[in-house]
Amino acid sequence: AGTGKFIVGGNWKCNGTAESVKSLVKELNSGKIDADVDVYVAPPFVFIPRVQKELNNKNYAVAAQNCWVSAGGAFTGEVSADMLADADIPWVILGHSERRALCGETNEFVGEKTKYALSKGLKVALCIGETLEQREAGTTLDICRAQLKAVNDVVTAADWENIVIAYEPVWAIGTGKVATPDQAQEVHAGIRKWCADNISPAIASKIRIQYGGSVNAGNCDELAQKEDIDGFLVGGASLIGEAFVTICNSAK
Ligand code: G3P
Repeated sequence: AGTGKFIVGGNWKCNGTAESVKSLVKELNSGKIDADVDVYVAPPFVFIPRVQKELNNKNYAVAAQNCWVSAGGAFTGEVSADMLADADIPWVILGHSERRALCGETNEFVGEKTKYALSKGLKVALCIGETLEQREAGTTLDICRAQLKAVNDVVTAADWENIVIAYEPVWAIGTGKVATPDQAQEVHAGIRKWCADNISPAIASKIRIQYGGSVNAGNCDELAQKEDIDGFLVGGASLIGEAFVTICNSAK
């Protein structure tokens, strides 16, 4: 099992208005986090300065949902890791399945982006996971291993200290169809074993593996009890302050 501190991320995806962000931040500020847990929230880029300014609950760090693969320049529409570091944004989510599927991000591209973001001092929440077809074909762990290998091919063992793995089965994302605790545990254990075999046993024992996919206030406690589930990456429920705080407290 992992020995790292429990960690919960809130991925707001492409949601929100100035008004809704304001009230969500208010809810988060008043929510009491009484578990020993690291938390990051990832608003859309335009809302990050507002969240940095207004989110004064010390439990929360701010994350970006993506960044570019190299330093800035002629890359219209992109935001560089350098800019995130300069703007005091400590975390970035990379390799989310929505970006892999909708924006054509390959395993190799995600590997290069991870390497570059780490080189700028960012911490990375690296998303991996299989589609329903891949699960039904029995290739879940092969898919996850290939996604991890593409990162491991370009980063050092020490780099993994600044990576959190988010296992997000694509079929569970935004579908209300959460993986069962046993299904999630099985894959998390496989991921940890891969880390032991391909990075180092020391890294494997402390790397944190988040589960993502339809986590909510009602199913988080049971999932959190599994030995290789070290936290969550939450989409829909992270837009509801009370639900998100409950999920953060499932570490207890
Ligand atoms: O990154 C979080 C995510 O993809 C899960 O989304 O809405 O199923 O919690 P959701």
